[in-house]
Amino acid sequence: MSEKERMERILVTSALPYANGPVHVGHAIGAYLPADVYTRYHRMKGSDVIYICGTDEHGTPITVTAEQEGISPKDVVDKYHRIIRDAFKKLGISFDNFSRTTNELHYKNAQDFFLRILERGYVYKKKVKRPYCENCKRFLPDRFVKGICPYCNARDQRGDQCEACGKQLEPHELRDSYCIICKKKPVEKETKHWFFKLSEFSSRLRDWISKNKHWPENARNFALGWISEGLEDRAITRDLDWGVPVPLDNAKGKVLYVWFDAPIGYISSTQEWAIGQKRPDLWKKYWKDKCKIVHFIGKDNIPFHAIIWPAMLMAHQGYNLPWQISSNEYLNLEGKKMSTSRGWVLWLHDFLEEFEPDLLRYYLLSINPEKHDADFSLREFQHKINNELIATYGNFVNRTLTFISRNDSIVPEIGEFDELDDEMLEFIRKSPERVGKRIERFKFLDSLKELMRTAKFGNEYFQKKEPWKKENSTTLYLCANLTRTLAILSVPFLPFTAERIWKMLNLRDSVFEQEWNSASELAIKEGHKIGKIELLFRKIDNAQIERFREKVRIKLDEKNER
Ligand code: MSP
Ligand code: ZN
Repeated sequence: MSEKERMERILVTSALPYANGPVHVGHAIGAYLPADVYTRYHRMKGSDVIYICGTDEHGTPITVTAEQEGISPKDVVDKYHRIIRDAFKKLGISFDNFSRTTNELHYKNAQDFFLRILERGYVYKKKVKRPYCENCKRFLPDRFVKGICPYCNARDQRGDQCEACGKQLEPHELRDSYCIICKKKPVEKETKHWFFKLSEFSSRLRDWISKNKHWPENARNFALGWISEGLEDRAITRDLDWGVPVPLDNAKGKVLYVWFDAPIGYISSTQEWAIGQKRPDLWKKYWKDKCKIVHFIGKDNIPFHAIIWPAMLMAHQGYNLPWQISSNEYLNLEGKKMSTSRGWVLWLHDFLEEFEPDLLRYYLLSINPEKHDADFSLREFQHKINNELIATYGNFVNRTLTFISRNDSIVPEIGEFDELDDEMLEFIRKSPERVGKRIERFKFLDSLKELMRTAKFGNEYFQKKEPWKKENSTTLYLCANLTRTLAILSVPFLPFTAERIWKMLNLRDSVFEQEWNSASELAIKEGHKIGKIELLFRKIDNAQIERFREKVRIKLDEKNER
């Protein structure tokens, strides 16, 4: 086997965000930051990995926003695609491709997918009754209608999914429903739709999911639970004029359901990437050859990624099934569920205008909602940055570099190693594996803890050795090397900081080009001259937090007045 063949091949995706508004901090940690950590790590491990995403530009989330803002759906998605792309870029999310589901290539893919499963007998046409607003003179698919969830009785739920119990809904299932535009009660009107034979996949899905023991519990439990309740066939078309047209003659005014075309967007975006690489067939090795497909999503996306999308793929039989569905629980904001309509959100671009991206990355990853919902609080953010990131990580790096800079910026010669030095050496040797294996197992909270343990270990070593009392060149030599180790291991979590440390250490190339396992080496030699040093982080004081809180609140108030 050649080196290239031995490398693991991985395709990482994050849920395609709806281009109906900016992204908030909940989106960021729900489906993007963990994926970025995972991808950056695998790049440094030498895996054949690409990270694929794009905006989801169809469906009623877009058309409802267009009506509310009084602009066309096309204007909505153009506007928010840009805002979302730029915010993610600023946060350092390192997509290999960030596409859009309104590009032509994707229309063709989605239509071909539909036609193929139709030919294979998994799609059929049926007459049905659907809610219709006589006042607005149109059908009310998905989010155009609200009402009471038939499963859990929660009020004011949208016609596509209940936010309270997570169940997939169809608009006609809601009780006491009303049109979200004019608030009138819809009537039932006959129409025809194309249905996907989801029911036929129960046993295949059950067998497959039972084998996927490495999935997180939330995804496994939801999927197995849904199968045991019984899977029903689902309409995959809608009466709407915004979306991918149903590619049949007798389907005027019908488009594919957004959740039918959106996951196919993962494939389209990979194809777009391959074209950009000037090797248009390259996408096939990820979707058709041996490859681990890893989806990162928030929990409300579980039904689609764990059941419907795999069933679609089984029906199609031309592409790989997902290998992992890394599904996070939710992030709340200051104790309350985030809600765009109620203005209770913290937009990513607002936050990044005030604070460095790595500070947000650190805080969000330290409360990553892996097992249960987490809460974003500005006070806790301030506390964790000051008392963890700065007090431990920043302190170790600054101490080490300051001491070396006082030695004419030269890393001193090594003396005899004592017991503590040996311990330190051993610690450095094992570091990449300690952090790396946790990332591989999707244990992002633990992996960040291990990263921080590296800095903590350095601080304790420094403290015990007291290099300020007596001259101790071995201490500084080893601390310089641990700082290098820390920089490499920080790349997935704190990429901007990692590169800054790399430059301060005056090491060659970029930290992003380093091999992960080289973090175990003592690569900084005696006599190496470090670069110009600067403070890594600045403490966040109460005044800044309060100022920011005011600023964000003013924005929220303005929004409420509209
Ligand atoms: N467009 C769909 C995904 C299609 S994937 C083929 C969608 N978009 S979204 O913009 O509403 O959400 C994007 C991602 O953010 C989703 O994975 C969603 O689960 C996640 N989250 C949205 N709000 C969140 C929190 N408050 N907390 C954690 N994750 C959150 O869904
Ligand atoms: Zn209406």
